[in-house]
Amino acid sequence: MLDQAHELRRLAGSILPSRTNSRAAGPRVVTITSGKGGVGKTSLAVNLGLLLARWSRRVLLFDADLGLANIEVMLGITPAYTLYEFLYGAKSIEEIVFSGPYGLQIVSGGSGMQELANLDSVQRQRILDMLPYLRAKTDFVLVDTGAGISKNVLGFAAAAEEVVMVITPEPTSLTDAYSLIKVLARFKLHSEARLVVNRVRDEGEAAQAAQKLQLVCRKFLDFDLDYLGAVLEDPVVGQAVKNQRPFVLSQPYSTAARNLNQVARCLVDGKDSAPKAAERFLSRLLKLFG
Ligand SMILES: Nc1ncnc2c1ncn2[C@@H]1O[C@H](COP(=O)(O)OP(=O)(O)OP(=O)(O)O)[C@@H](O)[C@H]1O
Ligand SMILES: [Mg+2]
Repeated sequence: MLDQAHELRRLAGSILPSRTNSRAAGPRVVTITSGKGGVGKTSLAVNLGLLLARWSRRVLLFDADLGLANIEVMLGITPAYTLYEFLYGAKSIEEIVFSGPYGLQIVSGGSGMQELANLDSVQRQRILDMLPYLRAKTDFVLVDTGAGISKNVLGFAAAAEEVVMVITPEPTSLTDAYSLIKVLARFKLHSEARLVVNRVRDEGEAAQAAQKLQLVCRKFLDFDLDYLGAVLEDPVVGQAVKNQRPFVLSQPYSTAARNLNQVARCLVDGKDSAPKAAERFLSRLLKLFG
């Protein structure tokens, strides 16, 4: 029996990506963003968060989109409280975290997002007070933003240690991504971002789109884009949105789920947590929004 348990653990260890992220170092903070809207950020963020959570990573998924609460809709949940109640001291961080499948932690920006530009000293301190929670309870903080060059998107992209840029092969998606990276590069907080190409016909189409963007970013902005992977066009993604059940749960063997598995593996294996990533994230947020 003991041998069996040991063998199972050994097998799981060889199947699941290794835990390169040391818990002591605090979480990795990854903002998922795009130049053009509707390219699949929220679909990928929710499903990526679930995959990482299934691999026993403690993930907090933060909905930083000023628009509709898309993460909630995709998961079919209604968190009782948002960042707003936390900022005004009505609720603790634990009370605004909604626990989803595999223990995925979900926090909605909600109407708290509008407040970020006008924080007083008490609310600024509340933001910093999130740090002990993030350090103790998370391995990954995934931030899902809206699209384009708004203060909100740029603030979260610039503040995070790591940026994942989502594009589709459409020319407008590439040019809008380039415009966003151009502004991001001016902050001089990053010299690189990761790239996911979504809604492609095949790997070849993804590689072609990635190369085009990589080339211009390198040549004109001295900015590297590290190719994280591609997700093919797959009807299960749209069905999952309609059914409010993420595709990695409802269709784990679908093309999109298998593709995203690869992306998640690359993300997990790619980097260790930068020490103090969460601390830097919160203080940069305050600087950038303040
Ligand atoms: N790989 C895919 N295959 C098929 N459909 C997809 C794929 N990825 C995303 N979609 C569809 O694209 C639409 C937009 O997706 P999503 O809401 O995730 O984009 P977004 O980038 O978060 O949008 P926004 O900029 O408005 O926040 C959804 O209807 C989704 O089903
Ligand atoms: Mg979205």
